[in-house]
Amino acid sequence: MNLPDFPWDSLVPFSERASAVSGGIVDLSVGTPVDPTPQLLQRALQEASDAPGYPQTYGTPDLREAVATWFATRRGVPDVDPAGVLPTVGSKELVAWLPTLLGLGEGDIVGFPRVAYPTYDVGARLAGATPLPVDALTALGPLTPSTTPKLLWLNTPGNPTGKVLGVGHLRKVVSWAREHGVVVASDECYAELDWRTDRDGDAFPTTPSLLDPRVTDGSHEGLLVAYSLSKQSNLAGYRAAFVAGDQALVRRILEVRKHAGMIVPWPVQRAIVAALGDSTHVEEQKARYAARRDRLSAAVRAWGLRIDLSDAGLYLWATAEEDSWTTVGRLADLGILVAPGAFYGAAGREHVRIALTASDERIETAVERLGGGTRAPLGGHRTLR
Ligand SMILES: Cc1ncc(COP(=O)(O)O)c(C=O)c1O
Repeated sequence: MNLPDFPWDSLVPFSERASAVSGGIVDLSVGTPVDPTPQLLQRALQEASDAPGYPQTYGTPDLREAVATWFATRRGVPDVDPAGVLPTVGSKELVAWLPTLLGLGEGDIVGFPRVAYPTYDVGARLAGATPLPVDALTALGPLTPSTTPKLLWLNTPGNPTGKVLGVGHLRKVVSWAREHGVVVASDECYAELDWRTDRDGDAFPTTPSLLDPRVTDGSHEGLLVAYSLSKQSNLAGYRAAFVAGDQALVRRILEVRKHAGMIVPWPVQRAIVAALGDSTHVEEQKARYAARRDRLSAAVRAWGLRIDLSDAGLYLWATAEEDSWTTVGRLADLGILVAPGAFYGAAGREHVRIALTASDERIETAVERLGGGTRAPLGGHRTLR
């Protein structure tokens, strides 16, 4: 099977270089949460540890109800039907298998953003379909049946860029997709980690969902949203996520998953219900990231990088307008490891991705080390507030 090389291996020499710096490495290369899993969720998991029977692949009715309620209260989507909800074993799993679960294969095109989380590409390849990085729909040119994607991935807020797609953009994509019979799947796993503050105004939610009624006009046909509790609830180790949207598509996916044994463990299903019922821990975690982001973004800019986009999510998308590996090397010399934008597609080759997922102590160490930088700022940044 034609899978891409696992790019992280190429960071190892930089990791060694950063580790050799006195005081140790500050690893900002991956987005893995480091703060404790909230007690409430640990308890929910523990209390469900007596689980001799098989759990439901479809998830319990109260889990699916909790997802629908979360969409209504936190995502501005009042019309998710619990019948169109399905828990997944983390969202990476769904991203990697969705083309296969939808029955796509040779000759089918799967589109995804040009600068993107690599698993959209992997998922197309696992299905034997054709991966197609594409930014603007117009870049697809005049469509024929053989050049029309069967599935189009969106990622908002985006990894690695932190770009948020607005209602107008999403509407255009949906209307185009309906015209051409394309399934649209939106990976929204950073949706609650938005750094724009106009939550109470017309702009709530600041990171609109693909399923927002202003986008869909009330029909979820052909639309799916993937969401994950890994980031907002420090649950990456539990593998707690779900997909929601078009009931017919969800049932088709469910059918295959039942046969394939792709089941979320019972204790994790209970932890998902507990997590969705409590927004306090999400706000607390968000406040931690906001403080780290403020400290780090000021230091990164003072050191001479420009931060682009980065309106939401757990990364700073920064550039020195040089090859990303050069920036990675310069930061490794300070003991700071970041990911080269080239990992996320050729269009990212002059950016680096700097994760906010490190302890306060490590972030402060990074800030101090960046304070030793001598280069002048590259001229502010574009949209970071
Ligand atoms: C855009 C995006 N989608 C999906 C995932 C997978 O998250 P998980 O499998 O933990 O739900 C990640 C993880 O970093 C991500 O950045």
